[in-house]
Parts: sequence; C-alpha cells; structure tokens
Amino acid sequence: MSIFYHVVATLLILAEYLPWLVLTASVVSINKCPGSSLGNRLYVPASAVNSLERVTFRLRNEFKACKNELHFASELRADTSLKSNDTIGEIGLKTIDMSYFTTDGLLRHGSDYYYPEEYCISSFSGGNVKATVCKPLCKRNRPCIRKCCPIGEVMDMESAGCKPAGGKLWSPVLYTNETHNLSDEEREKIRPHFINLPPSCKYSNGSASEEYSSIPLRPLRVNEYQLETIPMRLLKDGSLIYYAITDKWETIPKDLFCIDGMQNFGEVKSYTGLPSDQIVFSCVDYYTANQRR
Ligand SMILES: *[C@@H]1O[C@H](CO)[C@@H](O)[C@H](O)[C@H]1NC(C)=O
Ligand SMILES: *[C@@H]1O[C@H](CO)[C@@H](O)[C@H](O)[C@H]1NC(C)=O
Ligand SMILES: *[C@@H]1O[C@H](CO)[C@@H](O)[C@H](O)[C@H]1NC(C)=O
Ligand SMILES: *[C@@H]1O[C@H](CO)[C@@H](O)[C@H](O)[C@H]1NC(C)=O
Repeated sequence: MSIFYHVVATLLILAEYLPWLVLTASVVSINKCPGSSLGNRLYVPASAVNSLERVTFRLRNEFKACKNELHFASELRADTSLKSNDTIGEIGLKTIDMSYFTTDGLLRHGSDYYYPEEYCISSFSGGNVKATVCKPLCKRNRPCIRKCCPIGEVMDMESAGCKPAGGKLWSPVLYTNETHNLSDEEREKIRPHFINLPPSCKYSNGSASEEYSSIPLRPLRVNEYQLETIPMRLLKDGSLIYYAITDKWETIPKDLFCIDGMQNFGEVKSYTGLPSDQIVFSCVDYYTANQRR
C-alpha cells in the first residue's frame, strides 16, 4: 500500500514539474530511418517547433521507402514571428524557407509539410536534422495545395498578414465538382499535401509578378439587398474552380492560387474554421477571367 502510494506521489510530482514530458510523451509518433542510431524518443527543443514549445515524439521504425525520396540535412528553426504581433510584408502572404516540426509531428522542409509517415529522421543533434522525405507526386488523389500562410496561421484581414489561428487549424472542404463536396470519411483518406507558397504569377512579358487578386469567400454586403463574393470550390485534385464573369465555372490550376483560412473579417473576429472564412489569392483577373501568367 505505501509503495503504491509513493509511486503515485512520485508520478504526481513528475506530472506537476514536467507537464510537457507527461503530456506530450508517447502522443505523437514519427519514424526514424532504417539504420538510425536514435533511441525510442526524440526530444525536440522549443527552438525547432513551430509553437515554440518543446515536444517529445515517440520514434518508430515504420518508414516505408518510396520512389521520390529526398535526403537532406538542415538546421531546424522555429518561426519566431508566430509569437509576435508584427505584420509581415504589405501583401500579407508569408513564405519562409525554414525547416521545423509542428507539435502534430509534421516536418516542414522548405515550403513543404510532410506527415509523420512521409519522412524519417536519421539523426538529430544541436537542432540539426538529417532526414529523408517522400516528395509527393501531386497526382489526382493526392492534391498539393498552396496554403498562403504557414500551418497554424491564417490570413488576418485587419493586419493584412498571416497570424496565429488561435489553435483552430484550417482544413479545406474538397469538392468533386461545383455541387458535390466530399464527406468527412472521403476527405479523411485524401489528406492534401500543403505547401506554404504564394501563387506563381507572371506578367505577360514573362517576369514574375506579385500582384495577386484576393477574394474573401465570406460575402461582402455591397448594399442593403446585395451580397457579393465569387463562388469558389477547391477540387480534390488540388485545382480551384470559380464562377466566372463568363457565367461558367472556370478552373485555376494549382500553382496559380493559394488558399487559407481568414480571421478578423467584418464582425467575425477569431478564426471560425467555416468554409466561408477562407480567402483565395490568385493570378486571375476576375473582371476578364484571364489568368495572368
Ligand atoms: C498580440 O495581440 C493580442 C491581441 O491584441 C494580445 O492579446 C497579445 O498579448 C499580443 N501578443 C504579443 C506577443 O504581443
Ligand atoms: C457532381 O458529382 C456528383 C457525384 O459524383 C454527381 O452525382 C453530380 O451529377 C455531379 N454534378 C455535376 C454538375 O457534374
Ligand atoms: C459536405 O457534404 C456532406 C454530405 O456528404 C454534408 O453533410 C456536409 O455538410 C458538406 N459540408 C460542407 C462544408 O459543405
Ligand atoms: C514586365 O512587365 C512588368 C509590368 O508591366 C514590368 O514592371 C517589368 O519591368 C517587365 N519586365 C521586363 C523584364 O520587361
């Protein structure tokens, strides 16, 4: 009885002083690469995690080799602007070339986010990681979607920049066509690959353009009777269709737009996660339906 009491008391003390260890240990599993000398746990300092909290991942040996493997060595560095209130840039799209973990066990490398089963860690020390990732093919049933802001952030309309989404993650509804959206179960199977990049727009002379059109999907009140937005649907192949001035649904290829959640738009302050609380930046001139490439 007293031994039991001591064990419980010790656990309670541990739980009090090391909540990060107790709460996060063995929650998220990631993979170590075949032949890696890493143990069963990976302790990641706050400096390498997007939320700036240290995490402990459980390490498994279940990485499956793939055709599109990419090996890299990189310093993992969290995006410290997540914790600040600074507005980033005037156009508001934030793209950073950084590698770090998210608390959910995603690995960001460059602009790409990899799910735990899509990468493995060979070594990790002093914030430097050696890893192997499976580059996605971005094919029909595995869309690659450009997310305007880093994961964990959405577009904040008041500051016109990316801001932390207050814990609610943006997760887009996917459609098969203009009328039919995927059920939660169908959606679950797809798991889009997210890339934090702005649209690749070009002027007619071929030079890169950062003049994006932006369309909030929550209708704006134009006058007492009229609400206005452009109907848009993100398709399960990663392209976007919109109801154009031509009275037809037109397609925007996946590289010519980015989409994200939005907050602080009109009377809605915090991020709701609703499909209407999304914004699309694209290379399209909606008045002519031309795609500025
Ligand atoms: C950011 O702004 C919010 C709301 O204005 C405030 O509550 C928070 O403390 C600010 N954070 C920092 C790091 O300044
Ligand atoms: C949209 O897709 C659904 C399901 O695949 C189908 O039943 C429906 O006819 C399609 N609608 C149009 C307009 O293509
Ligand atoms: C998606 O479709 C399902 C039916 O398959 C429906 O219940 C759900 O409300 C739809 N979600 C959205 C956001 O339109
Ligand atoms: C291409 O066109 C844009 C907009 O008209 C202009 O700002 C830019 O200087 C041009 N670039 C070249 C290389 O001519």
